[in-house]
Amino acid sequence: MRLKNKVAVITGGSQGIGAAYVRRFVAEGAKVTIGDVLDKEGQALARELGPAASYIHCDVTRESDVARLMDEALSVHGGLDIAIANAGIVDSGSIMESDEAMFDRMMAINVKGVFFTCRQAARRMIARKTGGVLINISSIVAILGEIGEGCYPVSKGAVGALTRTLAVELADHNIRVVAIGPAGTRTAMMADAAPGSARLRNIELRTPMRRMGEPEEMAGVAVFLASDDASYITGQTIFADGGRLVLNLNMKERG
Ligand SMILES: NC(=O)c1ccc[n+]([C@@H]2O[C@H](COP(=O)([O-])OP(=O)(O)OC[C@H]3O[C@@H](n4cnc5c(N)ncnc54)[C@H](O)[C@@H]3O)[C@@H](O)[C@H]2O)c1
Repeated sequence: MRLKNKVAVITGGSQGIGAAYVRRFVAEGAKVTIGDVLDKEGQALARELGPAASYIHCDVTRESDVARLMDEALSVHGGLDIAIANAGIVDSGSIMESDEAMFDRMMAINVKGVFFTCRQAARRMIARKTGGVLINISSIVAILGEIGEGCYPVSKGAVGALTRTLAVELADHNIRVVAIGPAGTRTAMMADAAPGSARLRNIELRTPMRRMGEPEEMAGVAVFLASDDASYITGQTIFADGGRLVLNLNMKERG
């Protein structure tokens, strides 16, 4: 119960890694408000978890929706201690092929959505003088060159910069701002890395632990970062990547 009596908002919590954050936070004693555009899935998850969880429709590209998400957590659960800016989309293809509409959509959800989530949560934490923790979801591609994800790496690079800058701006308010940088993790976003696929084989060769991450493994990092065990960590991105970033060449084929 490392998050007992804490209240968290989690964007993009209806499925995937976001849903794993929701489940684990509730298991650790937190109360959670989910904000997502997948209403049916989000409502079902909140119902399953009982009074500790609530759901509200929230398109993170609209600051008024994000403001309502924060106010819902305050009115339903009576506080606001943690915000996880997790909602995100990915693209395929190259930056050269990517069109302007896709670039704008990517930045609206993956960058502006994180900016709105941090700002709306922090405003309330400052006004209430409670301090808090903002956790942004980045990716290993924030600091790697990548093939085949369009402008997605650009958006995650911006999340790193936002995290560092806000950590500095908000330190005097006792608000820590951190990020998690997952490598390939088994969700709908990685549907093309199915068993037997070339993508999965490539991940296995490029990852010392020779497998993708599981959503629950990202949730464990989020609990640590949200808890007082991480009380001296701010501005950092913690990469949960099975060793991917420290590997130079490919792993050897197993004999
Ligand atoms: N799965 C991976 O391999 C991986 C790796 C690195 C980083 N990430 C990041 O982790 C986060 C979660 O990814 P996932 O794999 O669980 O993906 P997912 O597609 O399963 O879930 C993404 C969630 O975000 C929601 N969402 C999308 N647009 C939204 C909007 N405008 N407003 C509110 N919610 C919106 C979706 O409805 C969905 O519930 C993303 O930020 C992603 O970039 C994932």
